[in-house]
Amino acid sequence: MHAARTAAQPLEPAARIRELELLEQEWKRGPRRNDRINAHIRAVLAAAGLSAGDVLEIGAREHPRTDVFAASAWNYSVMDIEAGSSSVPVVVGDITSCPELPDESFDVAVSVDVFEHVNRPWLAAEEISRLLRPGGISYTSTLFAWRYHPVPIDFWRFTPDCLDFLFADLDRVDSGFDTTERRRDIRGRGRRDQVPIDGLGGFRENWRVFHVGRKP
Ligand SMILES: C[S@@+](CC[C@H](N)C(=O)[O-])C[C@H]1O[C@@H](n2cnc3c(N)ncnc32)[C@H](O)[C@@H]1O
Repeated sequence: MHAARTAAQPLEPAARIRELELLEQEWKRGPRRNDRINAHIRAVLAAAGLSAGDVLEIGAREHPRTDVFAASAWNYSVMDIEAGSSSVPVVVGDITSCPELPDESFDVAVSVDVFEHVNRPWLAAEEISRLLRPGGISYTSTLFAWRYHPVPIDFWRFTPDCLDFLFADLDRVDSGFDTTERRRDIRGRGRRDQVPIDGLGGFRENWRVFHVGRKP
């Protein structure tokens, strides 16, 4: 990471441009989004001593995380509010209200970039907590700062404190930010991007946020 510089130490224009270019490219030096998240999920499950069981991934109709849960010991299923076109069958349902899924029927519940699209995320957290067996792990990855991106609607942004609060029925294992892509220039990407483009590029505060909880 770059050390913070005070206002009393301005850079010459050429050095400033070099610094901006370095900042913009920094995210490319580490693993990309999905590899990063998948490695994190694997580490979380290993730390929890979980290597088998029933998994529910929410909102994965297009990109199921089948590589993380490839072992035959995992029984992996996907629930999404819309039907999908991937190889994994999708149970169409709403994570804010899914009484069709019995209490304590999963060992792992995963959602990545779903909570910001859910109209009532507090109900989603309650349902995920209900669906987990005692000892089960919830892994939630969502956004603290990101450009507007409706899929189909973009409702919310979260802090770790907010996720801790929403998942109060679980024991908090970990929560925090992932700022790997903070200075990535995502101007003009995605449908209906409304961020004006100027000399500094586009959206520059890309912060992910995660929460890991365990059912008592
Ligand atoms: C941005 S996409 C998720 C992308 C994917 N999980 C990934 O990691 O790339 C958001 C997904 O959440 C689903 N979704 C939105 N609201 C939902 C709800 N209430 N219940 C279940 N799925 C929902 C959407 O249909 C969409 O597939």
